[in-house]
Amino acid sequence: MTYFVGIDVSTTATKALLMGADGKLLGVAASEYSYETPKPLWTEQQPNLWWQATVASLRQLLAQTRVSPTEIKGVGLTGQMHGLVLLDAAGRVLRPAILWNDQRTGAQCDEIRERLGKAALIQITGNDALTGFTAPKILWVRQNEPDVYARTAHILLPKDYIRYQLTGDFAADKAGGSGTILFDLAARDWSPEVLEALEIPVEWLPQTFEGPEMTGALSSEAAQATGLKAGTPVFGGGGDQATAAVGTGAVVEGIVSLSLGTSGVVFASTDRAIVESEGRLHAFCHAVPGKWHLMGVMLSAGGSLRWYRDTLAPGMDFDALLTPAAEVALGADGLLFLPYLTGERTPHPDPLARGAFVGLTVRHTQPHMTRAVLEGVAFGLRDSFELMQAAGLATVRQVRITGGGARSRLWRQILADVLNAELVTVNTGEGAAYGAALLAATGAGIFPSVASACAAAIRITGSTTPSPASEIYQQVYPLYSDLYPALRGAFQAIAQHS
Ligand code: XUL
Repeated sequence: MTYFVGIDVSTTATKALLMGADGKLLGVAASEYSYETPKPLWTEQQPNLWWQATVASLRQLLAQTRVSPTEIKGVGLTGQMHGLVLLDAAGRVLRPAILWNDQRTGAQCDEIRERLGKAALIQITGNDALTGFTAPKILWVRQNEPDVYARTAHILLPKDYIRYQLTGDFAADKAGGSGTILFDLAARDWSPEVLEALEIPVEWLPQTFEGPEMTGALSSEAAQATGLKAGTPVFGGGGDQATAAVGTGAVVEGIVSLSLGTSGVVFASTDRAIVESEGRLHAFCHAVPGKWHLMGVMLSAGGSLRWYRDTLAPGMDFDALLTPAAEVALGADGLLFLPYLTGERTPHPDPLARGAFVGLTVRHTQPHMTRAVLEGVAFGLRDSFELMQAAGLATVRQVRITGGGARSRLWRQILADVLNAELVTVNTGEGAAYGAALLAATGAGIFPSVASACAAAIRITGSTTPSPASEIYQQVYPLYSDLYPALRGAFQAIAQHS
């Protein structure tokens, strides 16, 4: 038998997954950890935690599935994007990793825009400078920890630190590389122009590989630690969003994945490097060779519904809360909800944006408010679709929905109506780690392409099509769109008082 392993180095746990050569899921093991917030806005994690968790979850996976390590023909890696790991010349970790959700680098983002010019930055890298991305973190360390910077010899992303532990090689995947914003998006490699403008030595950066390309082989030390076999090929894999999209089959233009968890992520595969001119969408390399993707991130999607339930209907289960909302008219009788409960990333990159119910009257009841929350999140996600189409994404043929929010039939119908697109669910629930295993299987030659791996492994389990009533949402959406510009000044003023 032939098996593949996917490893996901996330912010909260490292997960190892075993997949058969036919795409069948055979087992999952995870080992959890937490992250530190040593100062307001900071988030950090010790890279050693990831390695301990990788070792523990691989050992557990092997014990519970009882497969022979000799039958494992490849490992695919995925994990949290944008994090900064700094190593010295001997490969020792110089400081805790600075994570994707760290917000300390506002000044460095301004500096990057100044050094390159915002338009050139977006043109080359596909993205504006955001605090979470890797490049501003490097500048922050240079300015604030010069002795750490002076000893730096290697820059890695979290997942690639695990790759280094597994193989001894310094390597990264193209999807992860583009998330640093040190990448030339169209050329799919480090940008000499950006590196020069930011004065970052190219020798510090690892060689980059496509998702199904082999980057190295398991070392005997790593084999001893993990129980895998020395020499097992390790493949490029990808950043968590790109491999999660592989795991749902969003690998061809026209198929969009929508992950509706705490945050909401809209991910569209593209055949060329499309850029949103203001940088309001992320544009990264896909984990699929020669493909790119656009991405919109809503910070509080399922998070809005959870907050609403916990705060205004504590103790109620989601079914009981959502069922009466199905009886409320589309558009919640004029009640609108803005989902910016933790600020926003797309389409308004504004940490000061706030949530709001707008249009409340004495006629409104709790089911109206529930429906308004579901609709407000759907409208906010539609903003990403609108930006993508304006940027040049030709068609959206199908939206593949995953995450906790996908379980609600009402929410799926609202989304299909608001987005005016077919929404489908798929049989794969293991997300990024599963996509990483599919990339490894493709790299090992089991499948001729990532698209054929997805076609073999992923099945559609349900479909929701827009109802005739969706016409109403086409009229309500512009009302929603007008709210943020109208309230922006108020949000800024409110922030001064909170
Ligand atoms: C992607 C992003 C997150 C992190 C953490 O842009 O910020 O998905 O990768 O999972």
